Amino acid sequence: MSDRVTLRPCRFRDLRRVMEIENESFTDPYPWDEFAAHLLLNRSGFVVACIDSEVVGYVLAAREEGGEGWIRSIAVVPGFRRRGAGAALMEAAMESLAGCDRVILLARRSNEAAMALYRKFAFTETGMVKGYYRDGEDAVKFQWTQHEPE
Ligand SMILES: CC(C)(COP(=O)(O)OP(=O)(O)OC[C@H]1O[C@@H](n2cnc3c(N)ncnc32)[C@H](O)[C@@H]1OP(=O)(O)O)[C@@H](O)C(=O)NCCC(=O)NCCS
Repeated sequence: MSDRVTLRPCRFRDLRRVMEIENESFTDPYPWDEFAAHLLLNRSGFVVACIDSEVVGYVLAAREEGGEGWIRSIAVVPGFRRRGAGAALMEAAMESLAGCDRVILLARRSNEAAMALYRKFAFTETGMVKGYYRDGEDAVKFQWTQHEPE
């Protein structure tokens, strides 16, 4: 099996697969409506990664009013992790947010894989949101800035 990762915009017919990936990746998955709304309102920031034509991951990025970027979610199906899909999706997300001075995201404090990925893309920790997740776990806030903060 080739590990070549390809990227393309998400389509409505991908949403079922995206939901499978979501449900396999998170204990508190986003509902279908959230993905459908993102597809309608923010299409350029909704990208899927494929390996051998199979959708194996997705990223959701959005540009907020004021020009701030948010990476809302990223996931790769367990059997296809550590093959470069996550990094490819992060690149796509950052490309879709080109021009933003600042990009923000949150990660569970225990999520070493995600935090390593974000650090690799020059995100730095800026704080903590206590008890952010439904099960009470804290979120670590990460930020990427166009220029080094003074
Ligand atoms: C986080 C996630 C998207 C990474 O996807 P992936 O396809 O495995 O990532 P890649 O293979 O592209 O790895 C890119 C980098 O991420 C980091 N990384 C990924 N998995 C890692 C792990 N298990 N442990 C440590 N670092 C890891 C490494 O820095 C890696 O670079 P390297 O291969 O040069 O070491 C994936 O683990 C996932 O879907 N997790 C569940 C969902 C999730 O937690 N999403 C984030 C919500 S905040």
